[in-house]
Amino acid sequence: MPLSEIAMSANSALRSSQVVNIEDLRRLAQRRLPKAVFDYLDGGAEAEATLAENCRAFRDVIFRPRGAVAVADCNLKTKVLGHEISFPAMLAPVGYSRLMDPGGEVSAARAAGLAATGYILSTISGHKMEDVRAASQGPVCYQLYLLGGRAAAEGALDRARRAGLSALVITVDTPVAGMRERDPRNGMKELLGPSLLAKIPYLAELLAHPGWLTSFLLDGGLPKLENIVIPGKGPMDLVDISAALAAATVTWEDLRWIRQQWTGPIVVKGILIGDDARRAVDEGAAAVVVSNHGGRQLDSVSATLRALPEIVAAANGQIEILMDGGVRRGGDIVKALCLGARAVLIGRAYAYGLAAAGQAGVARALEILKTDVERTLRLLGCASVEQLDRSYVEVPAAWGAR
Ligand SMILES: Cc1cc2nc3c(=O)[nH]c(=O)nc-3n(C[C@H](O)[C@H](O)[C@H](O)COP(=O)(O)O)c2cc1C
Repeated sequence: MPLSEIAMSANSALRSSQVVNIEDLRRLAQRRLPKAVFDYLDGGAEAEATLAENCRAFRDVIFRPRGAVAVADCNLKTKVLGHEISFPAMLAPVGYSRLMDPGGEVSAARAAGLAATGYILSTISGHKMEDVRAASQGPVCYQLYLLGGRAAAEGALDRARRAGLSALVITVDTPVAGMRERDPRNGMKELLGPSLLAKIPYLAELLAHPGWLTSFLLDGGLPKLENIVIPGKGPMDLVDISAALAAATVTWEDLRWIRQQWTGPIVVKGILIGDDARRAVDEGAAAVVVSNHGGRQLDSVSATLRALPEIVAAANGQIEILMDGGVRRGGDIVKALCLGARAVLIGRAYAYGLAAAGQAGVARALEILKTDVERTLRLLGCASVEQLDRSYVEVPAAWGAR
């Protein structure tokens, strides 16, 4: 089937009544992607306990609606780091997006901009940050890992400043890559590596997904990591970056160094305990993201929704609190706001859309979530996301013990 037809059939599938929630996009992504790529996107670390718990924790929090309230106009708008966004969700950094769809980071950023919300570009990205910035009419931030060391980071920060990226997001929960057990089983390392021979056992699975394979090959195969430019060498290869990550731990000392290089706002992503939130405040962060990396790093840590109240209390209104992990419905977003988040980041929810149908899939994910948020607010009898507070939810008693 020619590429244009594949894209058209994906788009008409999106318009059908078959795609009513994020799980529907997940199913389409699973159909389109080879197993290795789908499992990289879908999977979590070790027993995937935290991955499951992130989603499950939303069910523990129960709404307390106000009856007989007519909400004529619902205001979903909020401000994150000074930028107004159309509803309280932005796109989280998702590495290797260009493997999910050739448009990758450019398509995701464009869809975010058209939905009047923000996009965070991962360090592990196949499109140049200048192109991603140009594609979106909304705020675009850059997530920084110190891959390639401070010399590579200096170059990236300089480019980010000149391209007009809005803020820097420093991820602090990745001193080594988490053990995502699906990846070695699927031959992820071999598929990303240089040896053709090593790929042979995994080729049948790639050939069973001709739509994805054709677009991957037409895109030139494995992309370079365009935003990690090693001085004197050029962009880093998209090899198994586990080893490089182990040498790239971001410490509080690095954060101080980064602050000297970057005068814009800094967001610390990967905070799960109050003490670290206080530390981020003291180090001059403008916001933190309560995050466990979508259950992809240390397994058996708290679901982020459950960690959120402790962070909100510790930050004491001094910085903005964002959260991510397990958001699959607009009701989840509303619950996070009731517990004190300014906005959420979504990861897999939009990446499933990207993998299913490129930019149109991301747009559909955002449309589903935004419509959900509006409906949930009306059902709660609340006219604006800014009025949401703890009185709209009941939280399990055990959560208070943290
Ligand atoms: C496939 C994938 C790749 C990711 N890559 C990065 C990354 O490069 N940098 C980062 O800070 N977080 C990364 N994350 C974590 C997300 O930014 C976010 O914290 C997480 O996806 C939120 O959980 P959710 O997927 O349940 O929404 C990645 C997540 C996924 C699913």
